[in-house]
Amino acid sequence: MNTLAEFVPETQNARIVIVDDDPDCLNFLKLRLLDCGHEVFSFTNGADALDAVVREPIDIILLDISMPEVDGIPVCDRIKQNPKLNGIPVIFLSGQGTPENIMRGFRSGGVDFITKPFQLEEVLARVSAHISRGRAEALLRQKNDFLERIVLERTTELQKDIEERQRVEAILAQQIRDNGEAFSYTIYALARAAEANDEDTGNHVLRVGEFSAIIASQLGLDDTFVQDIHLQAILHDVGKIHSHPDIFKKPGKLTDEEFTKMKEHTYSGTMIIGTNEKLRVGRNIALTHHEKWDGSGYPRGLVGEQIPIEGRITAIADIYDALRSARSYKAPFDHVTAYKIITEGDGRTMPEHFDPAVLQAFRETGDQFEETYERLKG
Ligand code: C2E
Ligand code: SIN
Ligand code: SIN
Ligand code: FE
Repeated sequence: MNTLAEFVPETQNARIVIVDDDPDCLNFLKLRLLDCGHEVFSFTNGADALDAVVREPIDIILLDISMPEVDGIPVCDRIKQNPKLNGIPVIFLSGQGTPENIMRGFRSGGVDFITKPFQLEEVLARVSAHISRGRAEALLRQKNDFLERIVLERTTELQKDIEERQRVEAILAQQIRDNGEAFSYTIYALARAAEANDEDTGNHVLRVGEFSAIIASQLGLDDTFVQDIHLQAILHDVGKIHSHPDIFKKPGKLTDEEFTKMKEHTYSGTMIIGTNEKLRVGRNIALTHHEKWDGSGYPRGLVGEQIPIEGRITAIADIYDALRSARSYKAPFDHVTAYKIITEGDGRTMPEHFDPAVLQAFRETGDQFEETYERLKG
């Protein structure tokens, strides 16, 4: 064992190409490398060597610079320009170790430059070192390629997953919108059906929904609640579908008996709407929109906060709209009169009937009530 070679990783079974126009030098090196356990392909010109390098997997090339036909430098250039070959280390061998030659060798991509005549041990040690390094680099390249491929595959899979999720989410969002629209439409249709036994037509139910939403917003209640009351307050009188048409369409004042029957529209509405959680606000409104803060309302005579907030809100919305509208038993009032009756009272309707906070919200939004009535009258 030569001492210098002990300092570099042991390499065996390397596939080595040697190119030298001097057959003595070529054979001498070839024999020594074969002794070391390598496979050696020797050539006396660069063209043949290139052919071999393209065909066979090669670990390292020992390349003479000055050769009669083609100089070693262009051979190295060709190897370095080929992406499949440019990882193969090239060691230059030259009898002319001039600085210029050495620079040409490194510039064309050589990893080392050995001047002839050389110490055999040195050549073997350097060959061994460059083979190890070349193999390590090749391994690293393989690992990188592998990782890149894995990352690319995973990225592609993730991209597909994301696209699929987005597609499903878009379908779901559309279905939710469709369901929401169908839900609103059904509630509106139900509210309209109840008008058969009432003199109210057109936009009365819609206006009560709008007025209720205005007050709920003004009170700072959350958006979901505002949306719910906006839609479901239109069901406040749905119970009238069970009442005899003569009561609500009567041109004059109701008798006590008729008034008692009229009050049942609150319970009827509650039963029609049922107990579905999605209609909880509407159910509460149907039941409590005629309750009064001071306990003088119906059907149960609830007091203060016993009345759910949606009932307290819809009570003012409903009365404002009744005051503004013509009824078989009353003429329509203008906004100022309706506003005055609600805020100051006229004997039948009194301020103490209302939750003070709700009444205050009504005072603050009177303009919106007037504007909304004008927009939705008809
Ligand atoms: P509606 O006509 O939609 O009136 C709803 C609420 O607005 C009434 O609830 C009442 O609180 C208020 N309101 C309506 N008109 C006036 C008014 O001229 N002045 C004052 N201060 N408030 C008014 P209420 O009294 O519980 O009545 C519930 C429903 O019963 C009414 O709905 C209406 O359909 C019917 N109704 C009530 N009184 C009579 C009546 O004398 N004759 C007839 N035909 N129907 C009546
Ligand atoms: C040569 O320089 O061409 C041969 C070197 C050697 O035999 O040591
Ligand atoms: C809310 O849901 O925002 C309030 C409703 C309530 O007080 O009943
Ligand atoms: Fe009512």
